[in-house]
Amino acid sequence: MPNRYAVILAAGQGTRMKSKLYKVLHPVCGKPMVEHVVDHVEKLNVQEMVTIIGHGAEMVKAQLGGRSHYALQEQQLGTAHAVMQAASMLEGKEGVTIVVCGDTPLIKAETMESLFKHHEELAAKATILTARIDDPTGYGRIIRNEKGLVEKIVEHKDATEDERKVNEINTGTYCFDNAALFEALKNVSNDNVQGEYYLPDVIEILKNQGEIVTAFQTETIEETLGVNDRVALSEAERIMRTRLNEMHMRNGVTIIDPANTYIGTDVEIGQDTIIYPGTILTGKTFIGAECQIGPNTEIDTCEIGDETVIRQSAAFKSAIGSHVNIGPFAHIRPDSNINDDVKIGNFVEIKKAVFGKGSKASHLSYIGDAEVGSDVNIGCGSITVNYDGKNKYLTKIEDGVFIGCNSNLVAPVTIGKGAYVAAGSTITKDVPGEALSIARAKQVNKENYVAKLNLKK
Ligand code: UD1
Ligand code: CA
Repeated sequence: MPNRYAVILAAGQGTRMKSKLYKVLHPVCGKPMVEHVVDHVEKLNVQEMVTIIGHGAEMVKAQLGGRSHYALQEQQLGTAHAVMQAASMLEGKEGVTIVVCGDTPLIKAETMESLFKHHEELAAKATILTARIDDPTGYGRIIRNEKGLVEKIVEHKDATEDERKVNEINTGTYCFDNAALFEALKNVSNDNVQGEYYLPDVIEILKNQGEIVTAFQTETIEETLGVNDRVALSEAERIMRTRLNEMHMRNGVTIIDPANTYIGTDVEIGQDTIIYPGTILTGKTFIGAECQIGPNTEIDTCEIGDETVIRQSAAFKSAIGSHVNIGPFAHIRPDSNINDDVKIGNFVEIKKAVFGKGSKASHLSYIGDAEVGSDVNIGCGSITVNYDGKNKYLTKIEDGVFIGCNSNLVAPVTIGKGAYVAAGSTITKDVPGEALSIARAKQVNKENYVAKLNLKK
C-alpha cells in the first residue's frame, strides 16, 4: 500500500452560515463538523493529517488538539491556495493524498476507503468522489467527454447553462498522487467568476498533461451534502441523526420515535433499553441494558447502569447505577454519584451529592454538596442548606438515617448512622448515631382561644 496523507480544508469563514461561529465548528449531532471529518480520516491509516486553518484558527486547533498537524492559510484565496499551504509538510512526498472539506461531515470512512482503493487500482493521478443528485445547485459539476471520461470540474458560478444541467457533482473529496498534486497546484490560476484559486482546476491540468484522472461515483448520495448554510446544517443533522438512531436500533435498542429522538455520536446504549420520544442524549454518555429513558429526558455525559428508569428528567455529568428510578421531573446536576437501587422522585434536585445504595428522596427535595449513605430515607420537602451566601458546606447523612419531611439540614452538619430527624426540624448541630433529633418549636394548643380573638362575625 502506498503512503497515505490527508489534507482537511477548514480555513473558510462560512459567510453563508451568517454566524459568529466559524462554519466548520458548527455542531452536527453535538460534534463540530470538522471533528466528524477528522474522526473519519483517522480510520484511513494516513501517515500525516494536515488541517488548513484560517478563520477561527485557534478555536479549530483547540477543538482538534494533537489529532492533526496544522497549516495556516492567512488569506482565504480559494481551495487550491488552501491545499498549497500544506506544501512545506507534504510537497514531494511519495504517496496518495486525500483532500476532504471540513464542511462535509457525512462522508463515511468506508466511502473514503473505497475512493482510495479505486484510485490505487486505476493507478490514477487524481480521483474525484462524485455523486448524482437531484438538485446540483451550488456544487461543482463533473464534465465528461463523449467517451464518458472526466475532463474537468466546473464551478456552479462559472458553468454554462448546459453544464448546469449536469447532475453529477464534485463532493469536494479527492485522492491525488501527492507529488503530482503539488506540481499541478503551481499552475492553478484565479481567472474565474469568484477570482479564487480552485482546487478542482487541478483535474483539468492533470488531464491536459495526459495523466489518468478518474471519478468514483458513490451511490450513497446522502453522504455528500456540503454544509454551506443553516438549511443544509439541519439537513445534515437529520441525516446523521437517522444514521445514529438506526445504528442503535440494529444494536438492540428500541427507539419508539426515531424522528423525535436525539442521540449524539459518542453515546453508547445497551441491549433492550427503550428510548421514549423527546429524549436528548449527548456527550460521552453510556447507558446500560434494559433501561427505560424518557419521554422528554435530557442526559449529558452520564454513565448509567442496567435496568434504570429515568422519566421526564435532566441529568448532567453524573454517574447513575443500576435499578435506579429517577423522575418524573428530577434534576441531577454535575458531579453526582447515585448508586444502585436509589429512588429520586418528582421535583428533586441533586447537586454534587453521593447517594448510597437503596437510598430514597422521593419528593420535592434539594440535596446539594452531600454524602448520603445507604438505605437513607429523605422525607418530602427536605433540604440541605449548603450555602451561606459565600461558601458551600457539606452535609453528611450516614447509613440508615431517616430524615422526616420538611427538614432543613444546615451544613456543615453530620447526621449519624441510624439517626431519626423529626419532621419539620431545622438541624444546625451534628446528630449522634441512633439518636432522635427534634428541632422545632413545641406545639401549643390554646383551648377555646378562637372565640377570644373575636374575629368571627
Ligand atoms: C467546493 C468545491 C465544489 C464542490 C463543493 C462540495 C471548490 C472551488 N469548489 O465548493 O466543486 O462541489 O465544495 O461541497 O473547491 N476553504 C479553505 N480556504 C479557502 C476556501 C475554502 O480552507 O480559501 C475550505 C472551507 O472552509 C470549506 C472547504 O474549503 O471547508 C470548501 O469551501 P467552500 O467555500 O464551502 O466551497 P464550495 O463553494 O462549497
Ligand atoms: Ca462547501
